[in-house]
Amino acid sequence: MKNDLILRAIKGEQVERPPVWMMRQAGRYLPEYMVLRRKYDFFTRIKTPDLACEITIQPIDIVGTDAAILFSDILTVPEAMGLEVQMVPDKGPYLPKTVKTKEDLDQLVVKDAHHEMQYVYDAIKVTKEALNDRVPLIGFAGAPFTILCYMVEGKGTKTFLESRKMLLATPELAHGLLQAITDVTIKYLQSQIEAGADLVQVFDSWSGLLDRQTFNTFCLPYIEQIAMAIDGKVPVIYFPRGNWHSLADVDKLPIDCIGLDWATPPAYARSQSDKCLQGNFDPAKLLMSPDRIEADTKEMIRAFGTHNYIANLGHGISPNVPVENAKRFVDTVKNWSN
Ligand code: CP3
Repeated sequence: MKNDLILRAIKGEQVERPPVWMMRQAGRYLPEYMVLRRKYDFFTRIKTPDLACEITIQPIDIVGTDAAILFSDILTVPEAMGLEVQMVPDKGPYLPKTVKTKEDLDQLVVKDAHHEMQYVYDAIKVTKEALNDRVPLIGFAGAPFTILCYMVEGKGTKTFLESRKMLLATPELAHGLLQAITDVTIKYLQSQIEAGADLVQVFDSWSGLLDRQTFNTFCLPYIEQIAMAIDGKVPVIYFPRGNWHSLADVDKLPIDCIGLDWATPPAYARSQSDKCLQGNFDPAKLLMSPDRIEADTKEMIRAFGTHNYIANLGHGISPNVPVENAKRFVDTVKNWSN
């Protein structure tokens, strides 16, 4: 690997500067992506390995991040489990069929669902070849609770009330669904690793809606199963967005790195965990002037320190970020010297 900075940082090795990548760096804000977006619909982009590969590598060529993340989506899993997923332009995902009852749960495909995502493993193989060991490739999946949210509601919502109701009012049903998702996700991530993913991230985008006890009951045991099944084969990053209150509990998981949202103070996170931390530049700050981006990025690195640290955003980059601004964020980290 020509640039293995992220792999060394996550193992706790001393590095010359922190590695940097951006959540949702593939797609969205890059004009080169928009050209392909106009030509091919979302699932064609994801399911055609050569297209997924091209989009994955765009930010490496254009912005120069230290890792690539496969162009795909967390909703490949519900689709593989038998729920149709539509991507409605300007609105986001829509699942016509949802899971509300035990009967719905019993109809989901579990045992062989990971075979339905062969296109993801093929995309990883093609991308690994094209990257030619320039930078590591990150595979990913949604965390079981976040996937449950889309399966229950059928779309994104602000509060995911139906999903939280399922956990609280029918915990057995919720645990049954979370276990089914976990079983598929384990095989899915293992297959991504076999195909060549050098590390993996698990996105819990909606876990911050849960209080500490609910989070600890319905999220952590499933993340633990996933991490145990990966069993040190590659590093695992877990991103529980908004769960600052549970960092000490997350710290006990057999994972290698905790992703932090932008509202979590670096010093507080360090006081809760000795693990490698990733984050947590507010994506809205990428809309400031490049000079202010540089100043705040430096402040973030100082606050985290350069050891056991991966520089990233506190959530996905937004589509309206000028490429020049994203570059300034990345370059500021790359020009850092201890
Ligand atoms: O770096 C990357 O962008 C890699 C690919 C990637 C996508 N989605 C592509 C995508 C990744 C890592 C994801 C993860 C994802 N998808 C999450 C977790 C991270 C997060 O942002 O919280 C979630 C919750 C989803 C579900 C999802 N997919 C939503 C809510 C939407 C619509 C709004 C949006 O743009 O995020 C999608 C569609 C989607 N997934 C797009 C892309 C590039 C936009 C569709 C398009 O450009 O046509």
